[in-house]
Amino acid sequence: MPESSHRPLIVGSGIAGLYVALRCRELGLRPTMVTKSRLEESNTKYAQGGIAAAIGPDDSPTLHLEDTLSAGDGLVNRDAARVLTSEAPARIADLVRYGVPFDTVDGQISLGREAAHSRFRILHAGGDATGLSIEEALRRRTLEAGIEVRERTVLRRLEPAGRDGPRAYLSDDLGGGTEILAPGPVVLATGGAGSLYRQSSNPSIATGEGVAIAFRAGGLITDMEFIQFHPTVFWREGAPRFLITEAFRGEGAVLRNDAGERFMTTVHRDAELAPRDVVARAIDREIHRTGHPCVYLDATGLPRDRLFVRFPSICRFLSTYGLDPSRDMIPVTPAAHYMIGGISTDLDGHTSLPGLYACGEVASTGVHGANRLASNSLLEGLVFGERVARQLGHPAAHGPPAPGRLVRVPLPSGAGRRDDPELVSEIRSLLWDDVGIVRTADGLRSALRDLDRIGRLAEPGRPDDPAGPLANAALTASLIARAALTRTESRGAHYRADFPRRRPEWRRHIGLLRAKPAARSN
Ligand code: SIN
Repeated sequence: MPESSHRPLIVGSGIAGLYVALRCRELGLRPTMVTKSRLEESNTKYAQGGIAAAIGPDDSPTLHLEDTLSAGDGLVNRDAARVLTSEAPARIADLVRYGVPFDTVDGQISLGREAAHSRFRILHAGGDATGLSIEEALRRRTLEAGIEVRERTVLRRLEPAGRDGPRAYLSDDLGGGTEILAPGPVVLATGGAGSLYRQSSNPSIATGEGVAIAFRAGGLITDMEFIQFHPTVFWREGAPRFLITEAFRGEGAVLRNDAGERFMTTVHRDAELAPRDVVARAIDREIHRTGHPCVYLDATGLPRDRLFVRFPSICRFLSTYGLDPSRDMIPVTPAAHYMIGGISTDLDGHTSLPGLYACGEVASTGVHGANRLASNSLLEGLVFGERVARQLGHPAAHGPPAPGRLVRVPLPSGAGRRDDPELVSEIRSLLWDDVGIVRTADGLRSALRDLDRIGRLAEPGRPDDPAGPLANAALTASLIARAALTRTESRGAHYRADFPRRRPEWRRHIGLLRAKPAARSN
């Protein structure tokens, strides 16, 4: 198959991918963006919470940095967090320039406050539709700029090919029409892996395959044990797990069990505004204790008009289920929300492979440590996206720092089964049940055994064959489980019931690297 010419290839159309593409164009490059679904479909458009930036009169990047460090529970890469917080105001100015309609009061951008932020620094657009507003503005600009966008086009494989960058294998979303691009720079902005969990706030496209593809190509993966669980997504049999933003609790909504008891007051001094992992674990405990499938968010004490102005999308969603939050309890459950780890990068998005860059949720800069501060994720896509765009014009031979603990992971050769909805469903249950909010060595080992079994069915038979979606899902899931088994402590979003405390010797990152295939003996 002949190779086609290779301009910077950007994979993914969330905030990071769109922003890199736009900035590349402004810097005189001619990027091509591919996205496995429609251009408008990404995790970004579901982000309700907002975007953090120290632009208030009593705020500063240093205060934002301190909050980011303390949320990250001892594992934040301070340099990455300094970059994130100090470059935030400039990136917000870019969004304003691109036409994002941030909410204002008296002509000034209005700033909200969220748990664990010491200042009012959360910008919103359209109330709880911040992600959607940003995505719409960036998408409009991308189309206006004439950037080549190929929808329903899937990256299947990356093959390291020297300093220029990897060779990329693309196909259509049904696995046909393979095209091989000549070696060149590739930016992975493919987002997270939340939908590999049975309960997830993410859309179904968030399957973490960027991690699997980079890992197969020999890239370093870090911090995969840190999956952030959001405490409150809507729960009803057969209904989507729609996010009910933390800001609901910020406004005064409280959590009750099925007996109507408010349980968070006995768990943490900040009750419903305790750190996200504490609230998620308390809800999980309550669900297991009572055998009832959900708990309830009670906003009935809040004024109706305030709820409808502040949370228009949520109120609209609830109304389709006959619920009015000023009158009715909202059934909620925790759900996988954000992949803190991913493809290891330096502060300019260089991965460990020449010419391969990563930014946004799929990247692991260490900026979030063991627990991400709310509303730092959209910001991460912009700040590190900008740095990647600048590097694309000026390749340099840098790379991520060495992890404190490196685990080599073998890849079996398998039967090449491309897809199987039952096995995908099994992966989602395995992760939720045994690699979820509360983990133990026994559960993690058992999940790994099952994921290896699925991997042996799904991995390509020959190392040069592109893997299918099932193999990628099993691989990413097994990397999460392996890192979680390795970290014998509890820290941030990672909780081990058999090691319930933080351990100082674990103040280091876990890196995962593909083990070299054993040499064949003749
Ligand atoms: C939320 O709105 O509760 C989520 C915000 C975030 O995850 O940053």
